[in-house]
Amino acid sequence: MRFKAIFKKFNLSLFYIMYLFGYTVIAIDLNFEKNFGNIRMKNSARGRVDPFIVMDVMEAARQIEKLGHEVIHLEVGQPGTGAPTLAKEKVINGLSDSTMGYTVALGIPELREKIADLYWRWYKIKVDPERIIVTPGSSGSFILAFTGLFDVGDTVGIGSPGYPSYRQILKALSLNTCAIKTTSDNKFQPIATDIKDKNLDGLLIASPANPTGSMLNKDELEGLMEACDQKQTVFISDEIYHGIEYDARAVSALEISDDCFVINSFSKYFSMTGWRLGWIVVPYDTYRANRALLIEQLPKIGFKKFAPPDGAFYFYIDVSEYTDNSLNFCKAILEEVRVAITPGIDFDPERGLETVRLSYACSTSDLKKGIRRLNNFMSKYRL
Ligand SMILES: Cc1ncc(COP(=O)(O)O)c(C=O)c1O
Repeated sequence: MRFKAIFKKFNLSLFYIMYLFGYTVIAIDLNFEKNFGNIRMKNSARGRVDPFIVMDVMEAARQIEKLGHEVIHLEVGQPGTGAPTLAKEKVINGLSDSTMGYTVALGIPELREKIADLYWRWYKIKVDPERIIVTPGSSGSFILAFTGLFDVGDTVGIGSPGYPSYRQILKALSLNTCAIKTTSDNKFQPIATDIKDKNLDGLLIASPANPTGSMLNKDELEGLMEACDQKQTVFISDEIYHGIEYDARAVSALEISDDCFVINSFSKYFSMTGWRLGWIVVPYDTYRANRALLIEQLPKIGFKKFAPPDGAFYFYIDVSEYTDNSLNFCKAILEEVRVAITPGIDFDPERGLETVRLSYACSTSDLKKGIRRLNNFMSKYRL
């Protein structure tokens, strides 16, 4: 009976995870406290994030509404309009016409093409759909970008005041936040001189911003991006409020340079918060450079049998000349040179004993480090 109750509650926390992916970390945290408080369980320190207070305010308001009172909601960034009719019709038809199954890893190609069209319509810039990755809300893009770009302990600058989830997601990923105190003179936006003396691995800006609604103009954005470029700081632009502007049009970081990560979402302009759909535009050669590096280096190391990947970010390599047990082979690589690769048996229980999978979704600098270490490991086979 007790288990039943726990599972019932656990399902509730899963619901939160799916519905409010943006606030996943918080939802998990709250639910661990609430549902499992009486069970001995290890919680990570990095998972102890602050509550998202607007959610508490919403809940308090809901309780008052339940008592029959009218509450005017000025707390949450929930567009008052519904999702576009066409999008709703597509989903209704899709429910009966298609299996609604897994999509290709980076998102439905037609959707990525339409997102690319949007960049042409809004900014007159051409973005290759290949550079667009569809994610569960823009929040999914932050998690993807932060994990793909930064290592534990790296520091990311964000403007203060700013959207609270940035800090919480960074903390949950064991990354440091450098809060850049912005001023009213600069419309509460960071400017190039703010980061001059800072040692940042990344800078995340939002224009228009939450909570101020202020925007960086083209020169200001350019100045920031140049400053980041000089200091090799990764530039990430949260453009979730693009399309909701009053006097001037918001400038996309992609109008200035392709060497940045641009995050956007269907939540605000398209009024689709609950749909959990967002995207990130990544520089063209992020994965391409890593792929090219591996195509060149793997044969030199001794990994000659692979087909260059056409998409995604994996090499599936035949290592039969070195082992008939890929599990032990990967274990030895991890223990001896501290590079983690996946044994093929994960994907093919029979032939996978002679294959390994290598993912190149990491940063190019990490990949280079990994290649050097793999080279050391393989030296004994090259004697
Ligand atoms: C600046 C900013 N970025 C990102 C988000 C998260 O949006 P999404 O629903 O796409 O996860 C919000 C939500 O309010 C926001 O204000």
